[in-house]
Amino acid sequence: MSDRRNFIKKATLGTLGIGSLYRAQDSNAAPINFEKAGARKEVKKPLIISTWNHGLPANKEALQHLSKGKPPLDAIVAGVGIAEADPKERSVGYGGFPDREGKVTLDACIMDHRSNCGSVSFLQGIKHPIAVAQKVLLETPHVMLAGAGALKFALSQGFKEENLLTAETEKDWKKWLKASKYKPVINTENHDTISMLILDEDGNLSGGCTTSGAAWKMHGRVGDSPIIGAGLFLDNDVGAAAATGLGEAVIRTAGSAMVVELMRQGKTPDEACKEIVERIYNKHKDHKDMEYLQVGFIAVNKAGIHGGYSLRNGFNYAVYDKDAGHRMEDAAFKMSWE
Ligand code: GLY
Repeated sequence: MSDRRNFIKKATLGTLGIGSLYRAQDSNAAPINFEKAGARKEVKKPLIISTWNHGLPANKEALQHLSKGKPPLDAIVAGVGIAEADPKERSVGYGGFPDREGKVTLDACIMDHRSNCGSVSFLQGIKHPIAVAQKVLLETPHVMLAGAGALKFALSQGFKEENLLTAETEKDWKKWLKASKYKPVINTENHDTISMLILDEDGNLSGGCTTSGAAWKMHGRVGDSPIIGAGLFLDNDVGAAAATGLGEAVIRTAGSAMVVELMRQGKTPDEACKEIVERIYNKHKDHKDMEYLQVGFIAVNKAGIHGGYSLRNGFNYAVYDKDAGHRMEDAAFKMSWE
């Protein structure tokens, strides 16, 4: 861990002197060892963490909503909605890279502290898939709606259908078509899927993620981001985790759910993220995807300790807490891009 990261952690966590505490709500779970987790003082909530550089404006927007007393899910929708609406963000929402047929197809999901979930996959023509995912959670008996059904539902909820392919992304797509070689590009200017996790003032967890998925994917491809347990998972007794990177690898390993399960067993968020990245590496080191594989996780536990880890260098995430304010942190990583 870098000195800067250590400093941030120490500045954030201060001194408490409590060795280990038991979570009252989950009597079957092992105790969280807060001392091991680095927690020496109660963290001043809310805590908000979001993937990549676009996480910073997202966190600021989410905080404004929380400060006005809005529910955390509304804060997530508003926060990540900034990246969704930004045509310069090539990996999320409007302006996102299209599939190989030139269609921008979107995946998103959202989850609250009661394990209510909403998700949309392969959604086209709607700028804010995260808001549609929230409507799935609130207004339907289901967890996930896909494709034409998701669009029909969005329109019935008052969302407007629009063209999400900007002139810029169309130009890039036409350039790509000339060689038509599929090679997912993660970490373009430090952004990819935006995932946000919140530990609110009441100590409840929530999370969301949204993406246009892998550029130049096959038409119909769905990544990890709308899949509860892969791109996002939380258990309000334990912690929350979210993923970025190559969705296929995250789905193969149920990545975010596994990070939460490792935290349940007593690992810190940093340790849990690292262990799952190691597992993904071990499962993929002889795989054809390895050449371009990047995955990263962020996680937060009930004590307000956060962490992150990625397979390759370059992954960063935005953090806000009441003690240390807004900042970017670089995730530790296993290996460098060659
Ligand atoms: N993590 C985003 C995707 O693979 O679609």
